[in-house]
Amino acid sequence: MEGGYLVGALILLGLASATDPSPLQDFCVAINDAKNGVFVNGKLCKDPKLATPEDFFFSGLNIPGNTSNQVGSTVTPAVVPGLNTLGISLVRIDYAPYHGLNPPHTHPRASEILVVVEGTLYAGFVTSNPDNRLFAKVLYPGDVFVFPVGMIHFQLNVGSGNAVAFAALSSQDPGVITIANAVFGSDPGINPDAVAKAFQLDKNMVRQLQSRFWSGNNCRV
Ligand SMILES: *[C@@H]1O[C@H](CO)[C@@H](O)[C@H](O)[C@H]1NC(C)=O
Repeated sequence: MEGGYLVGALILLGLASATDPSPLQDFCVAINDAKNGVFVNGKLCKDPKLATPEDFFFSGLNIPGNTSNQVGSTVTPAVVPGLNTLGISLVRIDYAPYHGLNPPHTHPRASEILVVVEGTLYAGFVTSNPDNRLFAKVLYPGDVFVFPVGMIHFQLNVGSGNAVAFAALSSQDPGVITIANAVFGSDPGINPDAVAKAFQLDKNMVRQLQSRFWSGNNCRV
């Protein structure tokens, strides 16, 4: 009997300390009809017997990304089929001289570790409410900075030449929410009253911002 209680207590303890598995998509609406269902948390897997070294290989992260866009930066992912379900990914980030910016954004599903290989970056992240502390540093080649999962973060090229960084992320599909794009460039637009009040802006200013083009800096491969 006592043993039964002990097992019960251990099960409860286990439940109390467990967390939900991290989702790999923005949402997953439950349906009963399997015919109209989709696969979640990964892609269909190749028969392991048919796997080749090419499945674990990617070439081209030595090639600079094109930074001729609104923000002056571009993110190029390493697209590797064998990464499926392994919970990691890798990108190259290029920054144009004089304030090429990887704008404030969050990855809802991944922490990030970034290493600078060329140039000078001002990089940082902001903690959650109520403190909203900024952790920021100027980074030089060889310097590494960590952005914890979910925190708003950014990198700005503060040098006069190109800057290049590589970043590893703790999900095969980290997700990206670029703050300005999400707030001012949503489709359809958020009611300007809501945005004006939240950002202490004039409603006309909000309308003006909403009418602008909000481009991303993610290289489509
Ligand atoms: C870079 O992108 C811009 C804008 O899309 C384009 O006009 C330009 O030709 C591209 N440069 C190269 C080298 O591909």
